[in-house]
Amino acid sequence: MQLQTRTSLDAPTDLLAIAVLPGDLDLPASGDGLLSVLDRALEGQIRQAITDERYKAKAGQRLGLSTGGRLASRRILLIGLGEASPATIGPATRDAAATAARYALSVGARDVILTTPTLPGFPSPGGAPSVTDWLSAAALGLHLGSYRFSKYLTGESAEARELSDAWLSPPELNSIPEPQRAQAVAQGIRTARAIAFARDLVNEPAGELTPKALAERTVSHALSAGASATVLSAAECRSRGMGLFLAVARGSDEEPQFVHLSWIPETASTSAGRTDAPGPRRRVVLVGKGVTFDSGGLSLKTTEGMLDMKTDMAGAAAVLSALAAVAEEKMPIEVHAIAACTENMLSARSYKLGDVLKSMAGKTVEINNTDAEGRLTLADALTYGLALRPDIILDFATLTGACIVALGPHTAGVMSNHEGTLQEWLTAARHAGEDMWPLPLPARLGDQLKSDVADLRNTGERWGGALTAGLFLKEFVDKTPWIHVDLAGPSTARKEWGALAKGGTGFGVATILEYLRTLSRAEPSKI
Ligand code: BES
Ligand code: MN
Ligand code: ZN
Repeated sequence: MQLQTRTSLDAPTDLLAIAVLPGDLDLPASGDGLLSVLDRALEGQIRQAITDERYKAKAGQRLGLSTGGRLASRRILLIGLGEASPATIGPATRDAAATAARYALSVGARDVILTTPTLPGFPSPGGAPSVTDWLSAAALGLHLGSYRFSKYLTGESAEARELSDAWLSPPELNSIPEPQRAQAVAQGIRTARAIAFARDLVNEPAGELTPKALAERTVSHALSAGASATVLSAAECRSRGMGLFLAVARGSDEEPQFVHLSWIPETASTSAGRTDAPGPRRRVVLVGKGVTFDSGGLSLKTTEGMLDMKTDMAGAAAVLSALAAVAEEKMPIEVHAIAACTENMLSARSYKLGDVLKSMAGKTVEINNTDAEGRLTLADALTYGLALRPDIILDFATLTGACIVALGPHTAGVMSNHEGTLQEWLTAARHAGEDMWPLPLPARLGDQLKSDVADLRNTGERWGGALTAGLFLKEFVDKTPWIHVDLAGPSTARKEWGALAKGGTGFGVATILEYLRTLSRAEPSKI
């Protein structure tokens, strides 16, 4: 899809898509707003349709009309933004753009113009003008709305459906110089590609996406984006003492892979040829759960519980995809993405109930459930990450069914040891349009993780299962500001919704990039 900006709406296209707020639907007969002008050109058809269809511009609500040759475009589509506030207009625009793309594809349109009557107060971090925020959100949505995982389809359903051209045409576009427009569109596309790459990994069957394949694909993607990469073999993990990660991997015939991607920007002094020392550079470590298939191990899951367990690497997919985008964007901060990738299988070599294992951090862990494997792989990955001495460490994991019980399937649970960082993270999530909600880490619940024979055991009791998982991880992060995101629910979607397709969602990527972009703007060496 070719994506460009243009200032006028009079290009001959298959579809003119307009994202509307409920307030835009009031069309004074001689008004000069976009919808009034179009309505006059269409001899009152828009007004008529709004009344006939009881159209309210609710989020995602559509109203399509044929223009009968009275406009340059063959069809018009209104897409509701709902009652969006300044904090949610970005995600609402993203979702409307995705709906426009999906509608265009479903009616066989090849090209589309996307606009909106007014630009209601976008939040403008870093003083960016609102038009550029709109352009990024719209570009992101058009791309995600066109996403489909069709690799394994044959025949007619395999046919590629793609828009050939899309134009973004917001009001006040003329106030933005061309390079800035292009940059805003490029940022939206970059985010969309990172999300799509993560979705592809999550959707790939576990028989195909083994730990080795996950490592190969993400490493080659990261290298071509300009990042660097190391993969530790099982033997290398052993010599580093990763006893928890390797115990989980033992039951599988597939070799585990410990993936470490990094983006280390050139220092300000080298890149600018100056000799003054740059300020301290922020260092961020991202850790993702990379279980490519979770059978539960000897604590075997049921068929139903296991059905979707190819997606148990969604955390790894998010951090490894995001890192490549960070490198493409050449962010002025140091970022690492780490994933201990393995299957959790059962065999004669599987780790057993009652086993006592030694972690890389030195703590011993008694196993009372082999299905609580994610926290074991993460504990060693967090220890490895802390050795990089980050300012902040974040982990992303499809960790507990209990988190889905607590918050429902669309919202991630967020736990942290640092209130300020938690609030910054939740703000980034809101701007990025990903549902996240804070959960507590009650010290008293930690008693459930006490063992008679080891420093810890890996599983607590049933109630508060998302929190005991968080408390287990907390034992491995010391004082470093830490964010834990349990994305067991939102990592996949059961049906299309807004910019989401069925299956893998790429959840986490958008907030990671939003958060890191904000950190980059605050980077001392850049001021
Ligand atoms: N990968 C699962 C969690 C999960 C469940 C993700 C449903 C997505 C959808 C995790 O490894 C797991 O099995 N967790 C157990 C923990 C329990 C044994 C303490 C769970 O949630 O049942
Ligand atoms: Mn499990
Ligand atoms: Zn799991």
